[in-house]
Amino acid sequence: MTPDDRPIGVFDSGLGGLTVVRALLDLLPDEDVCYFGDTGRFPYGPKPGAEVLGYALEIADLLVARGVKMLVVACNSAAAVSLGPLRERLADRGIEVLGVIEPGVRAAARVTRRGRVGVIGTVGTIASGAYQRATADLAPDLELTCCACPGFVEFVEQGDVDSEHVHILAERLLAPVRAAEVDTLVLGCTHYPLLARTIANVMGPEVVLVSSADETAFAVRALLTADGAATPGRNRRVRFTSSGDPEVFRTLGARFLGPEVRDVEAWTWT
Ligand code: DGL
Repeated sequence: MTPDDRPIGVFDSGLGGLTVVRALLDLLPDEDVCYFGDTGRFPYGPKPGAEVLGYALEIADLLVARGVKMLVVACNSAAAVSLGPLRERLADRGIEVLGVIEPGVRAAARVTRRGRVGVIGTVGTIASGAYQRATADLAPDLELTCCACPGFVEFVEQGDVDSEHVHILAERLLAPVRAAEVDTLVLGCTHYPLLARTIANVMGPEVVLVSSADETAFAVRALLTADGAATPGRNRRVRFTSSGDPEVFRTLGARFLGPEVRDVEAWTWT
């Protein structure tokens, strides 16, 4: 089969999806990535599902126009409401769509010792029931405790991942999953791995934190290999676009993802 050197499209409401990009860059060193952070319309978590779905469809059209070969919805809040509609929209173009929810559930099912799994996410993700449905499909034996953590993502977007303020908020928001004595905690928002140190401090050393980033990257690799669409060795290009302030995105993006975030293009929704 002919190798496909088109980029992998990835999007999130802001910086959180960079945790998935990091895993993709590490696992697939030859692939180009085209990332869109919808910082201008952030946050998605508190917004109605229909509004977030509209955003996801718009971003998908933009990334498809940029020639992506595959779409990774690196945002749980968007994946919870848009995976089906996106797959339908892009099927006749042969573009596969992957989310982060099923990969997170699969990883949790693998690592849990006692089957007691917590899931934390935005209000939208938890209220959508997407984790509950994915667990019923993929790992029905797990005992799930789901808990919304409003406020976490705002701290991350301000570059604050380990202050006393975040710690105090984490103590309060994580109380239900601590009370449920979970042995595994799924970080069901792609911003949360950036808070992993604070979350781990509150949860204690016995609780395994699961980020869907690595598992999603494995799923992308499996699809590319199956389709013969992997790109052979060469210098890769990673392109970042933000609908918010590109300089803020560049500074925080370089801190959270690494030196790959050099230039950030500005995008204005009309
Ligand atoms: N990173 C996004 C997620 O995984 C959500 C952040 C937001 O509320 O915009 O859910």
